[in-house]
Amino acid sequence: MNLFRTDLLQAGPPADISVPRKKNMMCLNESVLDPYQAIDEAFHQTMQEVRLNRYFSHVTSELRRLLTDYVGHGMSKDHLLWGNGADDMLFACFLAVRENNSSFAVSLAPSYFDYSTYSRAAGLGIEFIDYLPDFDFDEKRYLEVLNSPDCRLGILCNPNNPTGHLLSDEKITYVLEHTKKPVLLDETYFEFSGRTFVDKVADYPHLIIVRSFSKSFSAAGLRFGYLVSQPQNVDEIRKVQTIFNTSIMVQTFVMTMLLNKDLFLRHTAAAVALKHQLFEDMQQIEAIKTLPSATNFLTFSAGERSPELFECLKQNDIAIRDVGAHPLLAKHLRVSVGSAEQNRLFVDTVRRFFA
Ligand SMILES: Cc1ncc(COP(=O)(O)O)c(C=O)c1O
Repeated sequence: MNLFRTDLLQAGPPADISVPRKKNMMCLNESVLDPYQAIDEAFHQTMQEVRLNRYFSHVTSELRRLLTDYVGHGMSKDHLLWGNGADDMLFACFLAVRENNSSFAVSLAPSYFDYSTYSRAAGLGIEFIDYLPDFDFDEKRYLEVLNSPDCRLGILCNPNNPTGHLLSDEKITYVLEHTKKPVLLDETYFEFSGRTFVDKVADYPHLIIVRSFSKSFSAAGLRFGYLVSQPQNVDEIRKVQTIFNTSIMVQTFVMTMLLNKDLFLRHTAAAVALKHQLFEDMQQIEAIKTLPSATNFLTFSAGERSPELFECLKQNDIAIRDVGAHPLLAKHLRVSVGSAEQNRLFVDTVRRFFA
């Protein structure tokens, strides 16, 4: 007798995130700004009014108000649901849409690695449709799968990780217009692209937007993400969450970040400028081909020499990510934008490698 779910036993243990741990962590699309150091005084001050011996706190309604303001576009507090990172919101959506053992979701590929991890954990199958070689996608094929009876959710990642590209607004709209199935638009990197579909939530009752505080708000270790959708969807997805899902301390920290949001948005603008500079510098290196990106990372290839370059960077204390598992990104690596100094070190090391 299996003590645990048979389908999970067959799946094997969760894959460890296979990135080197090095001084220059340019592998997980994190920020170089530690938000705690940036707002510790304001956070401690706010914590004076917070009672961690209690389940409820005034912080929750205050955070709801500030986040509603931040999301804007006429959304109300009832359009929001938050949890422990965008990952937690993905998992909640997967759990909430699953009907039975035949249920599955559809995503484009290559895309965020952990759509498979959490759909499997939720008992939801997942099917992938490959991007076209120019990273456009066949919307008819996508819709054919999405509109098939057991498909419960369409996933679109915009901008997409790990390619860094934006989907066209027309394509996303076309998908929304031609299905009634829930469509999850993952906008984890939206602050770097400035493009969002939040203004379309009122028009499309099946649109669910997932966002993160790990990237633009610099708080990957804090674990805070949220979704935006029509209130009837929020009410359904809430049913699969534990009641006190997000700690009051995390809520207080996020509230303090939102009270100081200009600091984080300025940092995001600086990261975008550094990304442009890094892209230009990488374009100058003939031996690598770099994809344009609307995010805080750049995906590139050194062809057959990619594995060697990856090792060379590792030896120089720079961790980047191998994203070459999918044939469309064969031999591709991904570097997250670091500080100006880290970016320079990265470019110099790559140049030296080819010299
Ligand atoms: C596309 C995408 N979605 C979701 C996540 C998860 O973000 P979080 O740290 O908020 O769980 C990531 C993290 O890298 C991501 O790249």
